[in-house]
Amino acid sequence: MNEILTIGGVSAKALAEAMGTPLMVYDQAALEKRLNEFKTSFVHSEFETQVIYASKAFSCTAMLELVKKAGCGLDVVSVGELEAAKHADFPMREIVFHGNNKTPYEIRTAIEYGVGSIIIDGAMELDEVIKSAVQLRKKTPVIVRINPGIEADTHQYIITANIDSKFGVSIYERECILGMIKKIHDCEYLEFQGIHIHIGSQIFGIDPFIAGIRKIMEFISDIEKAGYPVNVLDLGGGFAATYTEKDMPLPISLVCNHILLECKNQKDSLGVSVGKIMIEPGRSMVAEAGLTLYTVGFIKQTANKKYIFVDGGMSDNIRPALYGAKYRCDAAEKMNAPKTEKVCVAGKCCESGDVLIEEAMLPKMEPGDLLAVYTTGAYGYSMASNYNRLPLPAVVFAKDGKARCVIKRQPYEDMWRLDTDTQINL
Ligand SMILES: Cc1ncc(COP(=O)(O)O)c(C=O)c1O
Repeated sequence: MNEILTIGGVSAKALAEAMGTPLMVYDQAALEKRLNEFKTSFVHSEFETQVIYASKAFSCTAMLELVKKAGCGLDVVSVGELEAAKHADFPMREIVFHGNNKTPYEIRTAIEYGVGSIIIDGAMELDEVIKSAVQLRKKTPVIVRINPGIEADTHQYIITANIDSKFGVSIYERECILGMIKKIHDCEYLEFQGIHIHIGSQIFGIDPFIAGIRKIMEFISDIEKAGYPVNVLDLGGGFAATYTEKDMPLPISLVCNHILLECKNQKDSLGVSVGKIMIEPGRSMVAEAGLTLYTVGFIKQTANKKYIFVDGGMSDNIRPALYGAKYRCDAAEKMNAPKTEKVCVAGKCCESGDVLIEEAMLPKMEPGDLLAVYTTGAYGYSMASNYNRLPLPAVVFAKDGKARCVIKRQPYEDMWRLDTDTQINL
């Protein structure tokens, strides 16, 4: 008897039959558990704390409702993400607005909507924020993003690396940063809240976070000696998710404890006034709760490999092609069958690089079989495209044996919905 994969108590086969493939399926209870885990772990008796979900990882109304219900804030990077939050009735005061090249329109909209903070990414942006806040006569809280000169890359971190990052103002540009903070203080429509850093993504250990905290707290001490109290320290995201068996992130409660402990130690030893600590997890909040179901099409044996072609690919998951991301998979209707074949799982897009998994062990697969690729919950749907005019997949949330569609499959008509032939009056 073939064992069938279930998600949230719902059979993958039943979901695929009802919704078609490719299909993104989230275990809703896993999403709720993770949100709650972050929220309850990131607390400290002496700091106000805030967990901000980085909505770039995966955003839709149903997801934003879960985030709101869990009492977490939201990180948005564009007016598109901000409007999605507004549509979901997300409280604007709980939103931080990021981005290295916010347009004047985005800045004005963020101020008008009354977001909790605008994260200022550079000196030129600050001038634009001042201009808009003064014009709108609206007091706007801001945080300055500093590139701390620490780059965390999975298991490692490198001090003084990445000084050329496109994000934030380099910590080595002290005078520029102090000048920016002075400008903020001098503007009656801005409120200086504090400092932001983000040191990387898919960080497994604690050391990179500790290094980042030490370096930025010292810098904060310097800023405060120059006469500018810093209330907020936002440490960004970057917490790892488990994609393959090689990935072993530490429990999030442990990471949160260490982070807050180090913040407290640094606060005490340096005598800084920081009173609120924020984090912005994206990937680690949603990656493991999601998977993608594909239907196997043709199978091809070449001189050196056996290809299993699926009905999606880089259009719904660009990560393997973009940066060599690794995934695990299973034959969703043959869960107990011995894995006897080494195969290459490739998509249907017109690119040689459209390979989802270079080497996977699977039972013998036939056309029509269902394939589940795990841990696709972060930066999958949000980076999906219509390459080759493939429609975006549907997304479902499954929980307690029931499933609901939270994003419809994109209709083919969408491919030409915006096509037009209209004269432009110049
Ligand atoms: C400023 C900022 N915050 C949070 C995140 C979320 O990172 P992750 O998904 O790795 O947690 C990112 C990712 O790019 C970021 O740039």
